[in-house]
Amino acid sequence: MSYEQAAAAAEFIRSKYRGEPRTAIVLGSGLGAFADELSNAVRIPYEEIPGFARSTVEGHAGQLVLGEIGGVPVAVQQGRFHYYEGYTMEQVTLPVRTFGLLGIKNLILTNAAGSLNSDMQPGSLMLITDHLNLMGVNPLRGPNDERFGPRFPDMTAVYDREFQYLASEEAKAIAHERFDKGIDDELTLFMQWGIYCALSGPTYETPAEIRMYREMGADAVGMSTVPEAIAARHQGMRVLGISCMTNMGAGMGDEPIDHEEVMVTGARVADVFKELLRRIVGRMD
Ligand code: HPA
Repeated sequence: MSYEQAAAAAEFIRSKYRGEPRTAIVLGSGLGAFADELSNAVRIPYEEIPGFARSTVEGHAGQLVLGEIGGVPVAVQQGRFHYYEGYTMEQVTLPVRTFGLLGIKNLILTNAAGSLNSDMQPGSLMLITDHLNLMGVNPLRGPNDERFGPRFPDMTAVYDREFQYLASEEAKAIAHERFDKGIDDELTLFMQWGIYCALSGPTYETPAEIRMYREMGADAVGMSTVPEAIAARHQGMRVLGISCMTNMGAGMGDEPIDHEEVMVTGARVADVFKELLRRIVGRMD
């Protein structure tokens, strides 16, 4: 898996779509609906793109959608590749590598996550300020290709500060509008910020593990995003990360965790989430 592979994928995508998006968005579990909002859209199933794997998880459509949102061209990954599916880290990060070669400068990574913070109830969103990579692997392991980036990339500021301010402003504006309309629920106070801890999965955590991750400083746990964020920073992209809290961490709520709950919560926040992404994209270029 290599620069040449990403270049071949990028060339294929260019042959299908003439626009020149500067922003790409990866949609997490249950959050795929945003891709249906694009106008003048071209949809490319992953299996048609050279080198791309197939997405096997329920709730992940498995296609790249290129089109416009509010007149701004974007590339959207409707479904991602997870390490727990058995893919190599090269397969997991190939879409991001390809985005880089397509000229993408800004990457928005979204995911479903478990909340470790009782102030963040299911349905709230968290801006990722930093991460803990506890997946047990690093996507940059192996020979380094300088065309992507340096051997030892700095990770002091993976998540772009300016993007965080911008996203937080737009979230506040949406919250005000909802409040003015008389809507006052958990979605109205929905944006927090915190540290995302990436685990390999596919099991959810044990309550003991959740207590440990809290001690370590994590605010949310999930099974994605960090490999893509690392690859994107390696290539010099600016990254924004947003987690949707779909459940409380194991042992913090009364119920066991299941994927159905993750999907249902994603659907519940879909409208607000779509609106937030639309506004953020409009301000990114
Ligand atoms: N743990 C890990 N990943 C997740 C969770 C969780 O509780 N919820 C959604 N993705």
